[in-house]
Amino acid sequence: MMKKHLLLVVLSLAIISVIGIGAGIEQSNPQNKDMGIGPVKNVVLGTIDKKMADEGKIIFTNKCAICHEMDQKKVGPPLRNITKERTPEYIMNLLLNSAQMQKEDPIVKKLLKDYNNVPMPDPAIK
Ligand code: HEC
Repeated sequence: MMKKHLLLVVLSLAIISVIGIGAGIEQSNPQNKDMGIGPVKNVVLGTIDKKMADEGKIIFTNKCAICHEMDQKKVGPPLRNITKERTPEYIMNLLLNSAQMQKEDPIVKKLLKDYNNVPMPDPAIK
C-alpha cells in the first residue's frame, strides 16, 4: 500500500523547514543517515508538490501540532530542521513503527530520555 499520507507529512515538514531561511526548496541531505527501523527502505523525494504539501500541513495541524512546534520544545522536539537532521526513511518509519523504534533505534532511545520518557504515540496515519 502506498503510504501517501505519510509522504504528505514528510513533504510538508520539508516545506516548513525551508520557510524562514528563505532557501527555496532543497533536496534533503540529512546529517544523520539512520534509516530507522520499519517497512520504509528507500524514499526518493522529487520536486515538492505544493498541493500534496498543503494536504500534509492539514494532517500535521490535526495530528502533530498538539505536541510539536517548529522552534520550541513542547511535548516532543521542535521540527523546523527535521528533514535536515533525519532521513525521510527514519521519519516515516518512526511514524509507522513507533513502538519498535522507541525500543531499538539509538536516536529515538536518546530522544525518549530527553523527553521525559514520554513515547510518541503511534499517530495512525497509514
Ligand atoms: C502526544 C504527543 C505527540 C504527538 C501527537 C506526535 N508526537 Fe512526534 N514526538 C513526540 C515525542 C515525545 C517525541 C520524542 C520521543 C519519541 O520519539 O518517542 C517525538 C518525536 C518525533 C520525531 C523525531 C524527532 C527527531 O529529532 O528525531 C518526529 C519526526 C516526530 N515526532 C514527528 C511527528 C509527526 C509528523 C506527528 C504527527 C503525525 C507527531 N510527531 C505526533 C510526541 C508526539
